Amino acid sequence: MRSLFYTHFFFPIFVIMKNILVTGGAGFIGSHTAVELIAAGYGVIIVDNLSNADTTCLDGVSKITGIKIPFYKVDCCDKREMQKIFQENEIDGAIHFAAFKAVGESVQKPLMYYYNNISSFTTLLEVMVESGGGNVVFSSSATVYGQADVLPVTEETPRKTAISPYGNTKQICEDILQDAVRAHSGLQGVILRYFNPIGAHPSALIGELPRGIPNNLVPFITQTAAGIRRELQIFGNDYNTPDGTALRDYIDIVDLAAAHVLALKRMTDHKGAGKCEIFNVGTGVPVSVMELVLKFQEVNKVNLKYKITGRREGDVEAIWADTSLANKILGWKTSRPIEETLANAWAWEKKLRGIIS
Ligand code: UD1
Repeated sequence: MRSLFYTHFFFPIFVIMKNILVTGGAGFIGSHTAVELIAAGYGVIIVDNLSNADTTCLDGVSKITGIKIPFYKVDCCDKREMQKIFQENEIDGAIHFAAFKAVGESVQKPLMYYYNNISSFTTLLEVMVESGGGNVVFSSSATVYGQADVLPVTEETPRKTAISPYGNTKQICEDILQDAVRAHSGLQGVILRYFNPIGAHPSALIGELPRGIPNNLVPFITQTAAGIRRELQIFGNDYNTPDGTALRDYIDIVDLAAAHVLALKRMTDHKGAGKCEIFNVGTGVPVSVMELVLKFQEVNKVNLKYKITGRREGDVEAIWADTSLANKILGWKTSRPIEETLANAWAWEKKLRGIIS
């Protein structure tokens, strides 16, 4: 059922709230995006099979927004269940986060990754096309660029052959959306290529909740600071970079979430219609692993135990974004300094672990 709002000027104006289905909405990026969507006046419906998340962030989203969000514990590969969600709700668009995301695991279990990541997206698109179309934002990754020859990367930078099944599913899903938008006039799409999302909501009510040993740098750092991991390993200090450690573009999770709202707005305004636009979502600033570790310690006044080890297989030396397209076309820009982002990441970890300081 659509919600109706109206405002009083000289006569009531009815504003129809747009409902957005957020797949994978119980996860790190999905939950932060749900908060930003609600703040921007969208209705949000979350679907998540909870295979890599629990309800912690769903509860956090409700606390932050004061809204109990309709939630379906459904696997996006289940077409019947997805059709039911579309029958029960008036859905104007979708943001697709539901995917497996561990690079190493994808090498061990490629079929599981190909099946899940591709089938969930094609099922969503099929159901959307059957119900008349809509706007779709696809959650892609800078991994599609591999080790680019020229830095920073623009959206025109050629994609490189993926080195992991995970990376390959991102490329394939990008192509699927491009083809689907070309073929189905009711469908519009935007692809957002994220760089390295880090941080947590300033309320410390939602954040990253990796299962088991974290693969990504910042959750490993916060868990080490919390005493859950004995020591951080810095993977390689012999790269051709200023301090020898790898360079990445770390983007604040709330800034990243805001880009999704602007991508939807772009489609609602029917700008870029008929084509599936692609935007880099990063800060444009390269930061080395060592710089990030030192900054985390300085900002949060904690000591981290770390050691330099060999390079991690599959890592690129350096990547950062040229974000001028998103700045110009979406009107998006980053607003949080990395110090604030790292403080938020630590505040979230401390809250999770009951650390008082
Ligand atoms: C990876 C994925 C990317 C995905 C992102 C999500 C690839 C190649 N990378 O990026 O697609 O969007 O996660 O956040 O597909 N590091 C350490 N010690 C650690 C962990 C990491 O030194 O314990 C280093 C890594 O070697 C790397 C940097 O920190 O240089 C960032 O690593 P990570 O957070 O895992 O992200 P990426 O590998 O860049």
